[in-house]
Amino acid sequence: MRNNLYTEQSSITLTEREKLLNQKAIVVWFTGLSGSGKSAIANALNQSLFKNGRLSYILDGDNVRQGLNKDLDFSDLGRKENIRRISEVAKLMNDAGVMILSAFISPFIEDREEAKRIIGEERFIEVFVDTPLDICETRDVKGLYKKARSGEIPSFTGVSSPYEPPVSPSLVVKTENKTVEECASRILEYLKTVK
Ligand code: ADX
Repeated sequence: MRNNLYTEQSSITLTEREKLLNQKAIVVWFTGLSGSGKSAIANALNQSLFKNGRLSYILDGDNVRQGLNKDLDFSDLGRKENIRRISEVAKLMNDAGVMILSAFISPFIEDREEAKRIIGEERFIEVFVDTPLDICETRDVKGLYKKARSGEIPSFTGVSSPYEPPVSPSLVVKTENKTVEECASRILEYLKTVK
């Protein structure tokens, strides 16, 4: 036993909680550039799931980085630790029976692989929100690309820090010429096929 720690087993199992909630506790892991639409789509999907009687919860980069992860920066290591902690939180919330919609840039393949390992392959659904950089930059909803281009924000994903697209995601959502609702309903349809 490492570090003299012992795992406590709950007398109620995840299977029982999933049965109570009538759902499979999965993580929909959105990845994509800043401004690609991850949060907006996660929100729309959350609404649809709620209307369908499912209990889901959004973990969002901008929010989590103002609380649990406010000590982390945007260096490669800061991002790695960001994703590791989120994955552990997602795993706990999954164990509670809740479906998680996680919206983080999560730019590195290696970190997303680690997230999959922590959460469990059978519960991890990777959704690539595939919006090209020039579109994210034209939208520039938060005005951050402008700041990144002027050098005001260092290590900005897509500008001065890399983004590694997924090699074989569960789903690719192209947002150009599609509404947020159309993107969310595509994912909802996919989720219906997940056993
Ligand atoms: S991640 O790379 O570690 O996964 P995360 O999703 O938590 O990033 O946070 C991204 C959000 O932080 C962006 O949507 C943006 O609003 C803000 N942000 C601030 N600085 C940066 C930066 N250097 N690179 C990317 N996003 C940044």
